[in-house]
Amino acid sequence: MAKIIDGKLVSTEERKKIACEVDKLKKDGYTPGLAVIIVGEDPASKVYVRNKSKACDEVGMYSEVYALPENTTEDELLDLVHRLNTDDKINGILVQLPLPKHLSDEKIIAEISPEKDVDAFHTINVGKIMLGDYDFLPCTPAGVMVLLEHYGINVSGKECVVVGRSNIVGKPQAMLLLHANGTVTVCHSRTKDLAEVTRRADILVVAIGKADFITGDMVKEGAVVIDVGMNRREDGKLTGDVDFETVEPKASYITPVPGGVGPMTITMLMKNTLTAAKRAKNKQC
Ligand code: GUN
Repeated sequence: MAKIIDGKLVSTEERKKIACEVDKLKKDGYTPGLAVIIVGEDPASKVYVRNKSKACDEVGMYSEVYALPENTTEDELLDLVHRLNTDDKINGILVQLPLPKHLSDEKIIAEISPEKDVDAFHTINVGKIMLGDYDFLPCTPAGVMVLLEHYGINVSGKECVVVGRSNIVGKPQAMLLLHANGTVTVCHSRTKDLAEVTRRADILVVAIGKADFITGDMVKEGAVVIDVGMNRREDGKLTGDVDFETVEPKASYITPVPGGVGPMTITMLMKNTLTAAKRAKNKQC
């Protein structure tokens, strides 16, 4: 039977540490602030944005949410980003993705000041992650690394397989595992004989966005299985990319969905906002 990696528990512990640091900054007269922008009515995005704002309250940070209508123009959105770039109350800017089709994610992200890019999506921050010398953590992959560390799972020398090559998760996850001295393979939709590759993994991270995609026969006995997926089944239940029922009996550790990686992502966002605030405060002096 696998040990369950409890993301809620680890997230609560991490948030307490962040809240303590926020408190210290506030006593010095500096309050970290996050601005979250959402365009349109995507229900899942609305939930994420609400949770980000709640997390700010929980750790004592200031936050602003800009809920813009679906028909917002690129110029209007860019104006807001530019204004927030120079707003001293705001240390972090997050534009919730996906944006409506008429807006270009890349164009908007490119205009966020790299010092306030708490998602670490700007090319400057992506480049820094590639080099292993970075201030902002890629939130979800960093959350995975914190979970591994918390449970004493050493990455060094391990066969790490990442399923999915998105810019938000798969690619930065591969980099972080590599920086931790894992031997990393990235799989994707064109990978030939995926199961043959996933069965090699000591640590398997799955971020492919397909419900219950990884089944027990695709996993090595004793593997650590990290499920980044968040899908809604036809019956309305949340499920990950890993078929928990068949994989759990083979794994040594496994993250549940919900309650595994999910809570860590927003916690890492809080950590990045704190980092941005500390840097901005030091610049003032
Ligand atoms: N949409 C889904 N995940 C994320 C995320 O981590 N950041 C932003 N900005 N949008 C997202």
